Amino acid sequence: LVAGIDSSTQSCKVVIRDAETGKLVRQGRASHPDGTEVHPDAWWAALQEAIDQAGGLDDVAAASVAGQQHGMVVLDENGEVVRPALLWNDTRSAGAAADLIAELGGGDKWAEAVGIVPVASFTLTKLRWLARHEPANAARVAAVCLPHDWLTWKLSGSTDISTIKTDRSDASGTLYWSAKTNQYRPDLLELGFGRQIATPEVLGPTGIAGHLPNGAPLGPGAGDNAAAAFGTGAGPGDVVVSIGTSGTVFVSSDVSPDDPSGTVAGFADVTGRFLPIVVTLNAARVLDAAGKLLGVDHDTLSKLALEAPAGADGLVLIPYLEGERTPNRPNATGAIHGLTLKTSDPAHLARAAVEGMLGALADGLDALVQRGAAANRIVLIGGGARSEAVRKIAPELFGLPVIVPPPGEYVADGAARQAAWVAAGSAEPPVWSAESPETYEATPVPLIRQQYKAAQDAVLDRFGMGFPPRAN
Ligand code: XUL
Repeated sequence: LVAGIDSSTQSCKVVIRDAETGKLVRQGRASHPDGTEVHPDAWWAALQEAIDQAGGLDDVAAASVAGQQHGMVVLDENGEVVRPALLWNDTRSAGAAADLIAELGGGDKWAEAVGIVPVASFTLTKLRWLARHEPANAARVAAVCLPHDWLTWKLSGSTDISTIKTDRSDASGTLYWSAKTNQYRPDLLELGFGRQIATPEVLGPTGIAGHLPNGAPLGPGAGDNAAAAFGTGAGPGDVVVSIGTSGTVFVSSDVSPDDPSGTVAGFADVTGRFLPIVVTLNAARVLDAAGKLLGVDHDTLSKLALEAPAGADGLVLIPYLEGERTPNRPNATGAIHGLTLKTSDPAHLARAAVEGMLGALADGLDALVQRGAAANRIVLIGGGARSEAVRKIAPELFGLPVIVPPPGEYVADGAARQAAWVAAGSAEPPVWSAESPETYEATPVPLIRQQYKAAQDAVLDRFGMGFPPRAN
C-alpha cells in the first residue's frame, strides 16, 4: 500500500492505494480554515485527522505529500513557525512583485532567470513583503519552505531545518529556483529578502525526503497542479483544466515556455520535465458566488445555465471576484455587462457565470498554445467539473473535445502514484489503469469568446495595473 496526501487551500485528503494496481483501499478527509493567511498548524491538525480517518499510515510502504503551491512558510532557527503562512491567493505582495520586476530590469529577465515572472502568488514576493512590513518577524526567519515541504518534514518527525526537502514542481514557483538549470538562485533570494536564509534541498522525481515512524520512505511530494497532472495520467496533447479554488490550465512538456509576459509560467512537473501553466484566481468560487446571488444550489445553477442560449444573449460576467492574477490585475473587481430586459433573469445570469469562468480558462489555453503547447483535448477536473453545465459548455469555449475523468482526488492520487514510484525504485513510474472518462465533442461557439473579450477589455482598461493592492 502507498499513501498520497493533498493539503489544499481548504482541506486535507488522504488516499491509500494498492501500489501495484492503484486500487483505492481507504481514504480520509478533514477541513481546515481557508483564506489567504493560515497558520501551518491548522494544516497539520487536518492532516492528522485525515490520516486517522484513512485508518493510519502504519501499513504503507511509502507516502508523498502534495499541496497548494507557493505559500510562504517561515521558520526560526529552532524550526518554529514565525508567523502564519501567506498563501498563493494573497495579493498583498502585488506591489512587491512589481518592484522585483523593475529591480531586475523587466519580466523578460525573470523569465530568462527562473522561467516565471513575479506576481503576488509567488513566494519571493511574500518574503519581500515580510522584509518591508514586518521587520521584527523577518529578522527571526532562518528558513523558508512551502506548504507541502513543511508537512513532509513534520511527518518525518525532524525539527532540524537543515533536513527540509522539496521537489522540482513546487520549487519552480518560488522565483529563487530555476527549473531550467535545476539550481537555486541565491542572488534572487537576496534581492527579494535582503539576505540569505536556508532553503530546502530540491529532490528529483524519486528522491527520499525522510521516513515515517514505520520506516517507510517519504517521497519528494509536489505542488498540487503537478500532482494532478501525474494523477490523471494525462498524456501528450492532453491539456488539463482544473477548476478548484484556483483555475489552472497546464500540460506536460519537454521545454520551458519562457514567457516574458508571465502569462504562462514555466513550472516543472514531477517526472523531470516541465509543466507550462496558466493560473487564475477565480474559478469554482465564481459558481458559488453566482449561486449565492441567485439563491440557488449548484445543481439548480447548472440547470438554469443550460436553459439559456449560448452567449446568454450578450450577458457577460467577468469573474474577477478576488482580483486577478492572469491577467495581472490584483485590484480588479468582477463585472456584469449586457443587462437588458431580455437578459435579466436567473438563467441568463447562471449561463453568464459559467461562460465567464470558462472564458478566463480558455484564454489560458490560447496562451499555452501560443507558447507552443500541443493541445488535442481538454481533461477537465476539479470541483467545478462536477457541474453538468460546466461540462457541457466547456467544449463551446475551448473548441476542443473535453474529457471528464470519473470524480476523484487527482492531486492525492498523483502523490500516491509518486509514492508507489518511490517504493518501486523503478526508472519509469507505475501505470495504473483508470476508469473510462465521459467525452464531450468539440462544439466551438466563437461568439462567446468575442463577447467575453470585449467586456474584459473594458474591465482591464478601468483597473490598469494599479498598485498598491487591496489587502493591507
Ligand atoms: C499555482 C497556484 C494555485 C495553487 C492552488 O500557481 O497558485 O494553483 O497551487 O492550490
